[in-house]
Parts: sequence; structure tokens; C-alpha cells
Amino acid sequence: MKQAIPLPRTEILGQLPQPLLTWYQGQSAARELPWREEVTPYHTWLSEIMLQQTRASAVIPYYHRFLAALPDIAALAACEEETLMKLWQGLGYYSRARNLKKAAIVLMDTFHGEMPGDLDALLKLPGIGRYTASAIGSIAFGLPLPAVDGNILRVVMRVLACREDIASAAVKRAVENALAPHYPTGKAAGDLNQAFMDLGATICLPHGAPHCARCPLASLCLAHDAGCEQELPVKQKKKQRRQENLTVLLLRAGQAFALRKRPAKGLLAGLWELPHLKGHLTAEEVRAHLHAHGLPVQELHQLPNARHIFSHVEWQMHGFEVILAAPSSGNVAESKEPLVWASPQELAETYSIPAAFQHFLP
Ligand code: ADE
Repeated sequence: MKQAIPLPRTEILGQLPQPLLTWYQGQSAARELPWREEVTPYHTWLSEIMLQQTRASAVIPYYHRFLAALPDIAALAACEEETLMKLWQGLGYYSRARNLKKAAIVLMDTFHGEMPGDLDALLKLPGIGRYTASAIGSIAFGLPLPAVDGNILRVVMRVLACREDIASAAVKRAVENALAPHYPTGKAAGDLNQAFMDLGATICLPHGAPHCARCPLASLCLAHDAGCEQELPVKQKKKQRRQENLTVLLLRAGQAFALRKRPAKGLLAGLWELPHLKGHLTAEEVRAHLHAHGLPVQELHQLPNARHIFSHVEWQMHGFEVILAAPSSGNVAESKEPLVWASPQELAETYSIPAAFQHFLP
């Protein structure tokens, strides 16, 4: 067993729920977000998965579109892979969508199509970790579970003026254990978690000066008292992302554009991509390469460079629009997948093409 991390002065945490709930439930401090309007386990689950790596304002249109297409767990469990990918296109981290569907199938098979209202059962579902299980448990089922994300960690570390590293799993667990005894049950449980989230998003900001003059916790906050709120929380830096150079090809023959399917495993698995080559190639190298693969070039134009950041890799992309004499089903090296040819309408509506390639699309 790992040594438990002792947090300082945790008795202060017992004083947080009342002012936070008054702040969240009173006036108009709470953000108006669609998943707060009609709270159901499915709505809470979907919103929490979408919100995992994405800002609330960016999630809103996806959330509406997803629910219009897949209004309940049964519809999600039965939906086609391509439909699901299309609904998720642009949100990134596509395994989140695949896990949603896998979990929906488990719910249909073993829980009569309902989400279970207990922590251990939620934790067994694909794609649901401790934070998400606690968020669903508290918001949709009123369970007294702190949903410890970056917001709660920042607020708590500032209130306690604590310099432990919040990247550490042991510190996260210590914060969860220290908060849990002070959590209410019923609607207040979800409200308290969402109050922490809103405080973190609007007042106790991660970058720049926090708005302490408007903070309901200012009089309790030891970091504010000591004037060190901007030094906290302490978070150890992650390893640098690997850089990859790519030359992306927008191959056009008449009004059709070439796509190919990505491998079934790994980054952006199974989605559609623009063909590309490793490294940054010159126009002449691209021309020679395509020629050698039976794709004679009629015209070639350089496109603006683009960059895309994933969690562990960063793509530095150069691009060329290449006009070919005729479509070909050949493949463009470095991939066994044949090219398929799509009209501009199909690019937009039929194929799920990840955001990284959208920079180069017509
Ligand atoms: N981020 C994660 N969950 C959230 C929620 N329920 N409301 C607002 N932002 C969130």
C-alpha cells in the first residue's frame, strides 16, 4: 500500500459546503448548461464524458446533436459505428465515444437499459473512472461522492495552502477522502460538485489572477490569506510530447478527394484521413513519390502549414493540394489501405474525418 498523503488542516474542508451551496444555488452564480436542465443518468453520463477533455461552451452543440440522434441508452447501444463517429467528429479522443457505446450495450444486457445508482457498478462500466462515476453518482443519484477533478484540486489546495503535487494519484485520493465525510446527500451532492466546478471555471481560475473579491470561500482560504494563491496548486510537468512531421496530401481528381481508413488500433483508430507521408517533403519529392505509386500529378500547390496537438504526440503538418488526371484505387505507400474517393458533400456528411485533417479540407 502507498503511504497516505497527510493534508494539512483538513478540518477547514467541513466549512466549505454551506457557502459554496449558497453561492451556487442562490443569485445566478450557477452557469446555465443544458445538462443541468433535465437531469437523468443518461444525460449526466453523456455530458460528463463529453466534458472530460473539452470546455463546456464547446460541448453544448455536440450534446444537443448527440441527444437528438441518440435520445436514450437503447438508441446508443444500437447505433452504427460510423454514425457514432460522425456525432463525435471534432470532439477528439474518440475512444470516449466507443466506450459510451460499449457501456450502453452492457447496460442493455445486464441492467435493463438503466444506469446503476451505485459507485462500484458505475466503476465497472467501460470509460467510467473515479471522477466520472462520482459525478454521475452525485448529480444523477444524489450520492455523497466528491468528483475530484482539476477544479476541486485547485480550490482545495488553495484553501488549505497545500503544496502537495496534484498530479499524484495519492494526493487526489487524499483530497477525495478528506472531502467525502463533509458531502451532503440528495440534490445538494451534485450541486456541491458543480459548485466546485463553476468556482474553478469562473472565480478560482487556473491561469492569471483569480477573482478572490467575488469568491464565497475567500474568508476561509489560507492561500488568499497568505497572498500565495497564484503559486498553487503545485503540479509536476508531464513529459514533453513527441513531435512528428507529416506531409498531408489533398489528392483531387475532378470533384473527388482521396481518403483512406486509419488502422483499427492506435491513434484515431478506424477514422478516415487524408493520405500523408512521414516527414516534410518538398513539392518535387511528393511529385516523384506519387509518380512511383502510379499517381501521375497534373498540378501541385502548397497549402498553409498546420499543427495538431494530441495528448502524447504533436503533428507538425505541411500540406499539398495535388490534382491528378484520374482517381485511382492505388495506395500511397506507408499504408496498405486503398484510397476511396469522396465528393465535397460526402467529406462533410458521410466520413468521420478527425480535426487534425480538417485544416486541409476544401
Ligand atoms: N465539467 C465537468 N462536469 C461538468 C458539469 N457538470 N458542469 C460544468 N462543467 C463540467
